[in-house]
Amino acid sequence: MPKINIAIDGPAGSGKSTLGKTLAEKINYRFIDSGLFYRYFAKICWENKISYTEKEKVIKFCSQKERNFAQNTELFFQQLEKQRNELSQPKIGNLASQFAPIKELRLIIYELIRSLVKNKGFVISGRDMTFKVLPGAEVKFFLTADLATRAKRRYFQLQSEGKNLTLEEVEKDLKERDQRDQSNITAAEATGLKIDTTNLTFAEGLEKLYNLCKANKLE
Ligand code: DC
Repeated sequence: MPKINIAIDGPAGSGKSTLGKTLAEKINYRFIDSGLFYRYFAKICWENKISYTEKEKVIKFCSQKERNFAQNTELFFQQLEKQRNELSQPKIGNLASQFAPIKELRLIIYELIRSLVKNKGFVISGRDMTFKVLPGAEVKFFLTADLATRAKRRYFQLQSEGKNLTLEEVEKDLKERDQRDQSNITAAEATGLKIDTTNLTFAEGLEKLYNLCKANKLE
């Protein structure tokens, strides 16, 4: 059967990446966490002492990098995956959300992702995959959960990775990120099949996603 693309958007901690990754494994697809791209570009700017306030410098530096990556997006993606642990640090997440509003940087990331998934067979998670980056994805989801639940999940995840933040710190961080991401959240909510995971176990969330995929194009 021909493969499709499945786009999943949702606020931080909604489960889009953990569920998306497991869904991809279950159906033998590949998973892309688009947040990694934002985290990576923010990190390399920071390492090169370029602040998110220096927009022109950010654009020039990231465009130069993109020209190399675009020649082999697959290799670039493998490099990102290798750095996943380092990139998933909360401080890099915060940095990424400061760089993310730069439109030209977003366009660079859009092109890299579109090139990667053009042959289909991907589950892609993010904030604006369903309505902006991959509006042609055959199945689109919007995952959500209330703030307290999302904070608890993120807190336990960070604990398991040995990253010690308090629950209050994690909740505050999510709240700030929600505010910054609000316009994307609103648009994604209006686009995707909405699943509220607040009262769902991981297995229930996964089953729901899987069944909806089957009912909507996945053979
Ligand atoms: O999903 P994440 O926590 O890895 O994302 C880190 C930041 O990157 C997030 O606060 C906003 C930005 N981001 C984005 O703007 N669009 C995406 N598709 C993914 C992430």
